[in-house]
Amino acid sequence: MASFKPTELWEASPHTLAKLEIIGRYLDVWFMILGSNPKNRRLVYIDGFAGPGHYTNTQKSSPLVALQAAKAAASRAGAAGSPTEYSFLFVEKKAEFAKNLREVVQSQSLPPQFKWSVEQGSFEDKVGGLLASLKETGKNLAPTFAFIDPFGATGLPFKVIAEILSYKSCEVLLNLDSDGIGRLVTAQAFEKNQTHLDVLFGDASWRSELDPKLPMAKLSAQVLALYKKRLKTVAKYVFAFAMNSREGQLNYHLVFASQHPLGLEKMKEAMRTVDQTGAYSFSDDTVGQELLRFDFDAPAIWAERMQRSLSGKWRLYADFRDYALNETPFTNSKPLLRELEGRGVLEIESAEGRRKGSFPEDKIERILIHQTLL
Ligand SMILES: C[S@@+](CC[C@H](N)C(=O)[O-])C[C@H]1O[C@@H](n2cnc3c(N)ncnc32)[C@H](O)[C@@H]1O
Repeated sequence: MASFKPTELWEASPHTLAKLEIIGRYLDVWFMILGSNPKNRRLVYIDGFAGPGHYTNTQKSSPLVALQAAKAAASRAGAAGSPTEYSFLFVEKKAEFAKNLREVVQSQSLPPQFKWSVEQGSFEDKVGGLLASLKETGKNLAPTFAFIDPFGATGLPFKVIAEILSYKSCEVLLNLDSDGIGRLVTAQAFEKNQTHLDVLFGDASWRSELDPKLPMAKLSAQVLALYKKRLKTVAKYVFAFAMNSREGQLNYHLVFASQHPLGLEKMKEAMRTVDQTGAYSFSDDTVGQELLRFDFDAPAIWAERMQRSLSGKWRLYADFRDYALNETPFTNSKPLLRELEGRGVLEIESAEGRRKGSFPEDKIERILIHQTLL
């Protein structure tokens, strides 16, 4: 995606609408689940690149989608007398857009337990500053969903993302401009680009791991793979979706990082529902392959990959769940295990008898995938 710096309100493209739909669907569930737990006295939504609050062709925007999801959850939780505070931090660098967003949020009717602020400034300064002061004072960050949605490849330092993810129950959805980052890699002779890349990846790994001579489609797959690898050092569950234009051209990747399997499961469900619009696709970051559109309902290719990665030793169920979540479009490993059982390469130890083709998590003790037929 070419870097775009609008000076006035702009039109939301179909993939922007799909992105808003994904966030809305996910936040409906996120606020609902966390808001119904009375232990959560506070929930936080951070919009690091919040925008002006609406587009020329729709009144929707990520801040409004988040407020609406939280309102629905609060009205349900409110019926049960929950005291949860819902806190929103919207950061927008451009003064006119911040002002516009403030007016848009002000015009909403919000419950009294909603606290919000629109901060004019950069994500790095405002969110980085907030996290630094939390650290200094030894305070914890309440369960947080951070949406980080820049135009282009700059302004999202890895150290700020890692800091958010260092807190329990905090997760991040970010818009990674893999093409734009690829262009910085190609033009790395410029010192300024090297600095951007050091900040973006949080270390110098890109210098040895990214090949500037690759064609852009392959380089952007390599960028995504390295970014995910960096995120995996700070989050247990990391997953990316390519947001493609109607013509199948890559626009950017939406990358999700969380410490909880349920978070990724629910995010995939949101993405899968919106996938029916054809506006995005699960993307493979295997270097050297073209980005492909994958069929969520075709387990064979994923089962074979899982077999290659996890065969040869007895493992706990959680290993297969984590593999399915992190490495495949599936929300759980059952379709893949079923496929491998059908091929006669699966052995299962379970506490009680189990029907062939069923994989009850509470009964299965361990699983062994063989490389060849039993
Ligand atoms: C893609 S738009 C955000 C759209 C919004 N998240 C939505 O979905 O409705 C990116 C916004 O980030 C703002 N921006 C650019 N650089 C920034 C920075 N370093 N920190 C915070 N905001 C920034 C831009 O002015 C623009 O409004």
